[in-house]
Amino acid sequence: MEENAIRNKYQELGVEGFYTQYGADYSNPHEAQIRQLLLQNQDRIDYNKVLDFCCGSGEVSRTLIEAGYGHVFASDPFTYEAYQKNCGRECWQYTFEDVIRTPIPEQFSAVICSFAMHLCPDEQLFPLVYQLFQSTSQLVIITPHKRPELEQLEGVQLAFEDFCLTAKGKQVRLKAYTSTFTY
Ligand SMILES: C[S@@+](CC[C@H](N)C(=O)[O-])C[C@H]1O[C@@H](n2cnc3c(N)ncnc32)[C@H](O)[C@@H]1O
Repeated sequence: MEENAIRNKYQELGVEGFYTQYGADYSNPHEAQIRQLLLQNQDRIDYNKVLDFCCGSGEVSRTLIEAGYGHVFASDPFTYEAYQKNCGRECWQYTFEDVIRTPIPEQFSAVICSFAMHLCPDEQLFPLVYQLFQSTSQLVIITPHKRPELEQLEGVQLAFEDFCLTAKGKQVRLKAYTSTFTY
């Protein structure tokens, strides 16, 4: 489904309604850009034990697994069937709200959230990010939008960023964050 069509469907059904209805068939037309960004930052992101958070049908996981990184975990409350079918691996089903309530009881070298954190309502962004940093010291966002700007949140620092272009010349950004939170 094209980007504009997805945006219209978000408006019609809401984000949750859209993914409940279409999640099993989800795939990202910008997988090539996701792959490029992940691979060209291998020396700056620790891929030893990654959580692919809001994993869709496995766009991030596939790249990492194909590049030889075996310890890839994934979570998505709506597309887990598509993920299991495409990646042949288990998929947790944490929502943003679940993580805000209780941090994920596992440690990761990096948590990667691709094309998804802009869907988190503004008022939930800080508690979500705060909880995710309980499970990792490196939070990586891939986004085709300016949002989310996690560097605006108290205690969150932009460590580095990178971008690449789609065929239409649109920027896809990768932003890596650390935090000064003490728990
Ligand atoms: C645009 S897709 C991105 C999927 C994949 N990471 C990618 O790069 O293509 C957004 C993802 O966010 C997930 N999502 C939407 N609302 C969510 C919520 N409240 N909690 C957790 N995940 C959510 C959807 O199921 C969907 O897989």
